[in-house]
Amino acid sequence: MKTRAITTSSFCIVSLLTLGLGSAASAASGASGTSADKATIQRGALLVGIGGCADCHTPFRMGASGPEKDVARGLSGHPAKLHLSSPPKLDSDWNWAGSATMTAFVGPWGITYAANLTPDRETGIGGWTERDFLNTMRTGKHLGIARPIMPPMPWQALAGLPTADLKAIYAYLMAQPAVSNRVPDYRPADRD
Ligand code: HEC
Repeated sequence: MKTRAITTSSFCIVSLLTLGLGSAASAASGASGTSADKATIQRGALLVGIGGCADCHTPFRMGASGPEKDVARGLSGHPAKLHLSSPPKLDSDWNWAGSATMTAFVGPWGITYAANLTPDRETGIGGWTERDFLNTMRTGKHLGIARPIMPPMPWQALAGLPTADLKAIYAYLMAQPAVSNRVPDYRPADRD
């Protein structure tokens, strides 16, 4: 249902967007054929930048002068192939920790892995509609209905954004290169 037709009819979609009727069209777009306009994507880039999304969703690697973002894997989440050792022992003073990649986090909530935010349909959010994205950010629940999103994902800060800004973030993410990377599942804390 997606990209090819949308790409070839982009002229019509631009007209729809101008009339403010673009949400259905952009929800129907996918990995490579985003239909959002340039200004919306630029606004999304700004918000993703100040929201620090890449600080957790882009893996870091060790560079010559310290940790640096691995831009080739931009926003693709915790690397699937990276097998981490057991997390450090935590206490009530130091009660959470992060991996060297800045994509895995352990704390009282268990272990969370930053999600793949690229438009890959299998492993990223390429299968999400714009509505799915808005519902997730507004409710703090996966797709608005499933399990609660755990720390340190700052969904509460995003929940208060105007709808147009959340749509811009979605548009920006959908306009990024798709990276295939299946992030491990959340592991809840062991309860005694
Ligand atoms: C401090 C680290 C951090 C920052 C900053 C961050 N995230 Fe996350 N994000 C996470 C983690 C960890 C998860 C996985 C949470 C879980 O599995 O419960 C996640 C999950 C998500 C999910 C998937 C939710 C789901 O239901 O599967 C989306 C979408 C998302 N983040 C978008 C964003 C966006 C957009 C930004 C920037 C505005 C952002 N995140 C900033 C750490 C972060």
